[in-house]
Amino acid sequence: MYLSRLHLRNWRNFSEQVVEIPPEGVAIIGDNGQGKTNLLEAVYYLEIFRSFRGAPDEQLVRFGEEVFRVEGTLRDPGGTDRTIAAAFERRRRKKKVTVNGAEPERLGDALGLVGAVIFSPSDVELVAGGPGERRRFLDIVLSLAEPGYLPALQRYRHALFQRNTLLRQNAQRALVQAFDDSLVAAGSRVLAARARWVAERAAGFAEHYARVAGGQPGFVSFVPSVDLPEATPPADDVARAFRDQLERVADREAARGMTLAGPHRDDLRFTTTGGDGQALDLRTYGSGGQQRTAAIALRMVEAETIRATRGRESVILLDDVFAELDPGRSRRIIEWIDQSGSGQVILTSPKETDVQIHGGGLPRWTIRDGVVTPLS
Ligand SMILES: Nc1ncnc2c1ncn2[C@@H]1O[C@H](COP(=O)(O)OP(=O)(O)OP(=O)(O)O)[C@@H](O)[C@H]1O
Ligand SMILES: [Mg+2]
Repeated sequence: MYLSRLHLRNWRNFSEQVVEIPPEGVAIIGDNGQGKTNLLEAVYYLEIFRSFRGAPDEQLVRFGEEVFRVEGTLRDPGGTDRTIAAAFERRRRKKKVTVNGAEPERLGDALGLVGAVIFSPSDVELVAGGPGERRRFLDIVLSLAEPGYLPALQRYRHALFQRNTLLRQNAQRALVQAFDDSLVAAGSRVLAARARWVAERAAGFAEHYARVAGGQPGFVSFVPSVDLPEATPPADDVARAFRDQLERVADREAARGMTLAGPHRDDLRFTTTGGDGQALDLRTYGSGGQQRTAAIALRMVEAETIRATRGRESVILLDDVFAELDPGRSRRIIEWIDQSGSGQVILTSPKETDVQIHGGGLPRWTIRDGVVTPLS
């Protein structure tokens, strides 16, 4: 399955653009500010129906227009085509998603159909930025990979919001505790899924990091907000640990007026090993290239998760990823892409010379001012 066609209307700096994309993918070359990231953002919008850059939908509508529409066709060789479309109306703030022309019962049912993973320069924030970035990453991957995760997360946020409101209003403890059951039930589901995912993928991460970094070690670990009795405890134990922790922080919660334990305070930690064998936190001590390498290794395990979930190659979107990486690292990333099979690769670069994927054999397009031109 691959993305065979993309139709953009009033999306960012595109007015009306239809492109046919070959099964192996394409390299999109263009100067800064011409729409390369915008195009990948549109493809990924069909995966999660949000901007991967965190932009609100209003910003995605072309300046001076009212409605954007993005439509993608997924071609299954030997099977039937599937069309995914998303439109957003600025004035009414109304979003409409369709799959083969029909609206899914819940938006969650349409998530992840493209099977795309995006590698972007801003991924460095996954390592260097605040914990919110890392939780957002976990939430997207697990929403795509695990049925039930997104509804649990939504229930958790709802309970958390109500509990925080009461704490802020200095409500009696019994009133606050009335939300503990739903907070703990939904929160332990989220926590357990995150803990399990990191435990399952940590070895793969270390392998990717070490390979891309030419032998330097790199690790990821989960830093749960709740003291867990083991790395991946059974659901009942997670719930019990969460409840115990709420008990312990109750006085501080009342004083600070907010919930102080739970998955809204989870984090991921990235480390390498220093000269003396000590763990060095990459967020604090990593070089730009090391942080970038960790972010790329994280995207690689994400791609593997998506592949395992969908049972097919993922569509790999590479937004100018080789900038700032040394030639060895770039080469080893390309090797990973080439090895991981026949999946489609859509990459962008401001420079011709960067493009060596599939032996440099990807078809090329240029992009200028929101207009794509295939180079024959
Ligand atoms: N809603 C919008 N309507 C019209 N133009 C927009 C909109 N949002 C962004 N743009 C324009 O899109 C352009 C940026 O596009 P994009 O981020 O895709 O560039 P790029 O080709 O990836 O550049 P770089 O190489 O610098 O990353 C800017 O010129 C910006 O003004
Ligand atoms: Mg860009």
